[in-house]
Amino acid sequence: MFKKFFQHFPLSFFCKYPYQFLTSYYISYTMAIEKNKRKLVNCPLNENNGYYTIDYKKFEEEARKPQNKLLIFCSPHNPVGRVWKKEELEKIAEIAVKNNLIVVADEIWHDLIMPGYKHTVMATVSKELEERLITCTAPSKTFNLAGLATSSIIIKNKDIRDTYVATLQKMRSSSVNILGFKACEIAYNNCEKWLDELIQVLNNNQRIIKKFFDEKFPKIKVNLIEGTYLLWLDFRALGLSDEELEKFMHIEAEFFTDEGYIFGIEGSGYERVNLAAPTWVIEEALERLGKALEKIYK
Ligand SMILES: Cc1ncc(COP(=O)(O)O)c(C=O)c1O
Repeated sequence: MFKKFFQHFPLSFFCKYPYQFLTSYYISYTMAIEKNKRKLVNCPLNENNGYYTIDYKKFEEEARKPQNKLLIFCSPHNPVGRVWKKEELEKIAEIAVKNNLIVVADEIWHDLIMPGYKHTVMATVSKELEERLITCTAPSKTFNLAGLATSSIIIKNKDIRDTYVATLQKMRSSSVNILGFKACEIAYNNCEKWLDELIQVLNNNQRIIKKFFDEKFPKIKVNLIEGTYLLWLDFRALGLSDEELEKFMHIEAEFFTDEGYIFGIEGSGYERVNLAAPTWVIEEALERLGKALEKIYK
């Protein structure tokens, strides 16, 4: 039942009928929730000058409703790239424990942290929360192993763990792909240096993109990410509809991004750029985008 809740996005809930989830929606979370005939409740983040924070008031309001049973929390956050501070996680834990929520901490991005930031593992912030916590990680983002479909689901509480395993067994989905298992072992044991280098490349790529917009198209706002390899760009100043922006990016600029609106209405006018590419690919893409933007930028 919980299996795919560790897909993307951040704050989500679900409950026993009339099943509700709270999330700041990402399409895969939404899909998993709805296909499981649960109800989605979103808790959008607050945005202030490109910096995103958790709306604790809204979260607590929803947490108090008895039909909301489970929170899906994306940490670090896709798509806005926040690495939550310990104090932020403590507040979430406190509200979750007080309201008997089960929490799924989707920490799939936890290895991809930019210099100067530190990921705090949700399980370390509160003993009480640990008893109601499902932590999800995978080597798929960090080491580009998504095709091997291997993840680690960490559940301390035996009852929750048994329910989880029984559900996987029902779906005949409880075995591990042996290649994925081996790749995961090698990645975690032997590839730290590679990861350190990767983070330098990602950080450099995001700075190149920021400099490009700041110097040439300053109305398009770029905030450096704290984690993940996804840069969240604010194109709202162009005044285009979602459809026009998508067409412009993909057809005029041949700049292939994820459209912000797929993450919910709060993403309208934004684009999510994948930084996990060689720097020359980013530079070439920016050149194409620059030429296209010159024609419409005022
Ligand atoms: C937050 C989050 N969770 C889960 C996933 C899914 O990962 P996987 O490709 O390993 O299924 C993604 C992929 O983008 C993600 O961003």
